[in-house]
Formats: sequence, C-alpha cells, structure tokens
Amino acid sequence: MKRIAVLTSGGDAPGMNAAIRAILDQGLHHGMEVYGVYYGYKGLVEGDFRLLSVHDVQHRLKMGGTLLYSARFPEFSQPEYQEQALTQLRKHKIDGLIVIGGDGSFQGALALTKLGFPAIGIPGTIDNDIPGTEYTIGFDSAVTVALDAIDKISDTAASHERTFVVEVMGRSAGDIAIWAGVAAGADAIIIPEDGFDMMEIVERTRSGRRSGKDHSLIILAEGVMKVDEFVTRYTTIAQEQDVRGIALSHIQRGGAPTARDRVFAQLMGAKAVDNLINGHSGIYMGIIQERLATFDIVETLKKESRSIRQDLFQLNKDLTDRDL
Ligand code: ADP
Ligand code: F6P
Repeated sequence: MKRIAVLTSGGDAPGMNAAIRAILDQGLHHGMEVYGVYYGYKGLVEGDFRLLSVHDVQHRLKMGGTLLYSARFPEFSQPEYQEQALTQLRKHKIDGLIVIGGDGSFQGALALTKLGFPAIGIPGTIDNDIPGTEYTIGFDSAVTVALDAIDKISDTAASHERTFVVEVMGRSAGDIAIWAGVAAGADAIIIPEDGFDMMEIVERTRSGRRSGKDHSLIILAEGVMKVDEFVTRYTTIAQEQDVRGIALSHIQRGGAPTARDRVFAQLMGAKAVDNLINGHSGIYMGIIQERLATFDIVETLKKESRSIRQDLFQLNKDLTDRDL
C-alpha cells in the first residue's frame, strides 16, 4: 500500500481534524503518501484529491470542523456515482480509503469495498448513534458545549424563577440529551428512545419547585419534537406562562475538541491506517470500554441495534423523583 486517501462526510464533528492528522502522520510513518479528498463523496466523484503535508494539518488538532470540508451527497447511494468514484480512485492511484463520518457515510465505504476497493470507516458524529462503538468522535465535545450553554441558561432561569426547555441535537438519538441533562442536573430529560407523558413532566417540575428549586430545566432531544411545539404543549398543561424554549442548534458542532475527542480520534486514525496496511476492509474503528475495537460494517450496522445509557437516564429520573 503506497497511497491512501481520507475524506470526511456527513455532519462535521470536533475531533475530525485530529483523526486526519493522525492518518497523515501514521501514513508518513509507514512511508506512504496520504491524499485528502475534499467535500466528502462529492469530491470523491469529482476527483478533488489533494496530497496532504504536515503543513496542511499543523495547528488543526485543536480546532473544530474539518479541514477537508464535508458535504451531504445522497447521489452516492447510486451505483453509477460509486463507479465514478472508483475511476477517480484508480486514476489517482489510491490503494485504500478512510472515511470519517456517521453510519450513512459507512454505507458509502461499504459500497466501495463491495466493488473491490479497500475502505475503512472511523465514527465521526456528535450524535453518538453508531451501533457497536460506545463512542463517536465529537460527542464529548458537543456534550461539553451543550452543558456550558445550559449552565448559562440556568443562571438567568434562576434569577427569573423560570422554566426553560433546551433542545439539543442528536438526530434520532438521545445521547447528548442524557449526558448534558444529567451533568446539568436537569429536572427532566426527554429522548426519542423513550416515550413521555407531559403531565408527568409538569408534575416533576412542580415537585422540584415545592422542594425548594427556584427554576426548572427540561432537556429535550431534537428527535422528539421541536422546542416551540414542546413549550406550547407544556404551557397549556402546566398553566404556566413564563416558560422559555431555546434550540442550541449548530453551536453544538463547533469549538475546540475535548481531550477525549482528540485522543480517541488519533487512536482510531492511526489504527485505521494499520488496518488498511494489514489488508482489512469493510470495517470501522470504534471504542469499547476505552479501548480500540473494530467492527464489520455489514454485520454490526445491519444486525445490532444501539442502546442508550439506560442507567444514566434512570439516574436522572431517580434524582428528580422527589415527592411525586
Ligand atoms: P452520516 O454519515 O453522519 O450518517 P448521512 O446519513 O447524511 O450522514 O450520510 C453522509 C453521506 O454518506 C451521504 O450524503 C452520502 O454521500 C453517503 N451515504 C449515505 N447513505 C449511503 C448509502 N446507502 N450508500 C452510499 N452512500 C451513502
Ligand atoms: O448528525 C449531526 C447533526 O448535527 C444532527 O445532530 C442534526 O440533526 C443534523 O446533523 C443537522 O444537520 P444539518 O447540519 O445538515 O442541518
């Protein structure tokens, strides 16, 4: 293996740059050339390949976003675009590809593997929603950003004795809501993986007030519903007027990656290169109990369902179950 390439696809996530840097450094360590494919699968199809140097990645380890840019390119599920990508990869004499992205992006890597081209995935998404791995690059940073914002919101919520509903990202996963919600000491966490009863949520915030709290904080995962709709429904049932809603939105995808995201991104980046060299393909890197793990894309994504941290979700319920 003499030349490898790396691309980032789907939503960007803090720590992607750390993975790219490790892929370059590990590639150089093995005497290879490392190409960056810009703009995800779109750039792959259009042939936007650029030889990476240490200069390209310097100072990026500590930065959010992705230096390779990202794009959503749904056309890549069609065989003719995959063939075009294959032609580009051959034209640029690339021997293996590393795809940093979510499970959608892994399907693209799998398609190339099925066409006979070696490709490996690295989980990069703030949503933490990939089966198998307990960790995806960017999740820890997104939770940290969300928590910082929620802490600030709780200052003003307390000063006005208000109820705030904070919508966090996660697509159809509730992981950011659970971690940020528990860390912030929220009165309730609402996630798509679990149903909820609005009356029970109202009772929960009321019991918090009765027990001495001056404000209420509800963390709502975006996969449940939009915050405005939630506030309208909550207000109607609670008969409480001073309720405010805020969607943290894309600020959760920005900012410097945490130490955890930088460390695991580098570990997975370096090991993805080693796996390509050792002839592996159609797999993705992951982390289980703080250690590197590898997963088969077909076996894991098709057969395994993701589970949330039920223990943490229950912890929040227990800690806020005051006199219900
Ligand atoms: P994520 O990778 O974060 O799950 P998406 O689901 O948007 O994000 O997927 C990112 C990109 O991966 C898509 O824009 C498309 O280019 C590619 N992709 C998604 N699904 C497939 C598929 N079934 N086959 C091939 N490529 C796919
Ligand atoms: O997958 C990452 C993510 O930020 C999700 O949490 C969110 O639902 C989605 O991407 C937003 O996508 P876009 O940036 O295209 O609006």
